[in-house]
Amino acid sequence: MTSSEKFAVIGDPISHSKSPQLHNKFGDEFKVKLSYDKIHTHASELEARVDSLIEKGYRGFNVTLPLKEAMYKIGNLRGYDLSERSIRAQSVNTVLIRKEKIFLDNTDGTGFIKSMNYPHYFDLHKKNLLIIGAGGATKGILGPILDVYPASITISNRSFEKIALLRERFNSPLLSFNLLKDLNSESNLNEYENTGSFDVIINATSSSVSMEDSLINPKYFKKAKLIIDLFYAKKLTSFLRVAKEYGCNNVMDGFPMLVEQAAESFYIWTGLKPDTNRIIAKRDVFFE
Ligand code: ATR
Repeated sequence: MTSSEKFAVIGDPISHSKSPQLHNKFGDEFKVKLSYDKIHTHASELEARVDSLIEKGYRGFNVTLPLKEAMYKIGNLRGYDLSERSIRAQSVNTVLIRKEKIFLDNTDGTGFIKSMNYPHYFDLHKKNLLIIGAGGATKGILGPILDVYPASITISNRSFEKIALLRERFNSPLLSFNLLKDLNSESNLNEYENTGSFDVIINATSSSVSMEDSLINPKYFKKAKLIIDLFYAKKLTSFLRVAKEYGCNNVMDGFPMLVEQAAESFYIWTGLKPDTNRIIAKRDVFFE
């Protein structure tokens, strides 16, 4: 890289984003000079924002909620280069601004798979997975999860609409879908307690969901080997707290995935691979 490249993250809301801290740490590791801004961008401003970042000489930027799918659509319309990963997820979180052609990618799924190294390496191959939620977060991670060939993936969602969209998009015999209310029904739970088991349970609903909403019956946690919440906070999320109360000690929040997806973006922009292990081990620094 030449001296001091400019990067940014755009989204709405954006004030909570930890991306500037992460990318500055990556920059320090390689003694690369960079700036990384948080730029609040309403969905209606997205096209204009993209143009202005290009004009101002930014080298690249991250796209976060709720703009990832809209960024993909803009890229498609404008004929930007789209990575396989972004096409599969139909959403974009990383933009590389090149002289020739702008390149769009999605590092969320790769970030998720890499996060399986924490707190101990866990192999999803041949495992039975339950994913709660069928929105953007699930769409982002599903492709790379299918590539690992779990034994099965059950996707459970509150309402039907997003299930239908996901079913249309991902066609695999490993996938089955149901409504949360059916998952939590007495008969389903009885059957599960007698014969079934989910090895891994992933909360991929939107972040602020708490167990007060009784997302799933906590009895599902009992036999699980790993519980993941894609949301993260300084303290254990309520989803993971309940999982622990029900006897599953192997829990992981979304922080490792956040670091891994950021490192993958950094790699796209600079060709350098940050030491994510070191950063994840010192997570408290990011919540001060
Ligand atoms: P994201 O990009 O974070 O996934 P999204 O695409 O809006 O955001 O999807 C949010 C997901 O969280 C959806 O699956 C949503 O369920 P619905 O499709 O029924 O709306 C789920 N979700 C949000 N709040 C929820 C709640 N209180 N209980 C259960 N599911 C919830």
